[in-house]
Amino acid sequence: MHILSIETSADETAAAVTEERKVLSNVIYSQILLHKKWGGIYPSLAKRAHEERIDRVVEKAINNFNNSETPHATGSREINLKNIDYIAVTQGPGLAIALEVGIKKAKELAKNSDKKLIPVNHLEGHIYSSFVQNSRGNPKRNFDFPYLALIISGGHTEIVLFKDHLNFAVLGETRDDAAGEALDKAAKMLGLGYPGGPVIERLAQAVNNRDIFNFPRPMIKSGNLDFSFSGLKTSLYYFLQKLDPDEKIQKIKDLAGSFQAAVFETILTKTEMAIIKTGINRVVVGGGVIANLYLRSRLRKLLKKYKGEASFPAYKYLSGDNAAMIGVAAFYKAQKGMFSRDLSFERTPRLTLS
Ligand code: KG4
Ligand code: ZN
Repeated sequence: MHILSIETSADETAAAVTEERKVLSNVIYSQILLHKKWGGIYPSLAKRAHEERIDRVVEKAINNFNNSETPHATGSREINLKNIDYIAVTQGPGLAIALEVGIKKAKELAKNSDKKLIPVNHLEGHIYSSFVQNSRGNPKRNFDFPYLALIISGGHTEIVLFKDHLNFAVLGETRDDAAGEALDKAAKMLGLGYPGGPVIERLAQAVNNRDIFNFPRPMIKSGNLDFSFSGLKTSLYYFLQKLDPDEKIQKIKDLAGSFQAAVFETILTKTEMAIIKTGINRVVVGGGVIANLYLRSRLRKLLKKYKGEASFPAYKYLSGDNAAMIGVAAFYKAQKGMFSRDLSFERTPRLTLS
């Protein structure tokens, strides 16, 4: 079963062709350079960039797939969906005007080629990202339910009980900013540019991830599994007010290390609480922030303590937004008959995991 998937929920225009868990073709056009000077995603620019790129991105994903099947095919501009069974698209959550672009394209293709559509929740995609395989079927990694699933991205911070395929219960989530958003906002305050996560990771690494300033660990004693990162951002703001510009530059690595430590310690504490509460010691993790190697090693260590295992997306592009994870989640939806020819579904910017 071949699925063409489309993802445009934030600032990547992405399309992929997948077969079960295998990625046969994958294209991601990142808009990061476009949004850099705004310190975050600028919605109308994102929409326009998606509109400008979507045809080429989808066409390239399909052509790469078709050319791998028939090496002598010409690079025709006609999109040949002959070997595609379903078209999957991110329905939400995300930026309304960005989601719309991908959905419109998916509907247009489905209508013209009489294919069935599979709307996918972006968060389902991040949860399935640890199971996405390359075209040779690696990594093998079999399902062994139940899992705890962590989504740690620029838009979301959630702890989810992943009971079985497409069977989710949210155990905890952020009440305000997401973890990646907190890192991005901190980087902006520190004058480090966008996106903040990778640059904060590098600076923190340079001081061995040490935590000098001990910023507050938000909601750590709340007794529940929810997060809140906006107060942490405010405490960095007031801390910086007390420093003169030279001091800020001098202390930049320790500021990065300490801020990152506050965000990650909170995630680690809540994950440990979830392990104890549910008795589940297998965790799958998705979302852009999990590109962070220090966070990966701390989560691995935590799960080792509980004689379990932490699994991460096997290839770097799978931690950020991509269409391959949408195609893989869609495969499990197709198996459950969750597809339709009905073109009436709409973008759902605040879609949650039910
Ligand atoms: O999953 P993603 O690409 O987009 C959303 O769905 O939100 O996540 C983007 C987030 C940004 O906040 C970015 O700063 C963060 O992931 N990020 C990182 C790293 N790489 C990206 N955070 C920490 N360490 C990294 N290496
Ligand atoms: Zn995402």
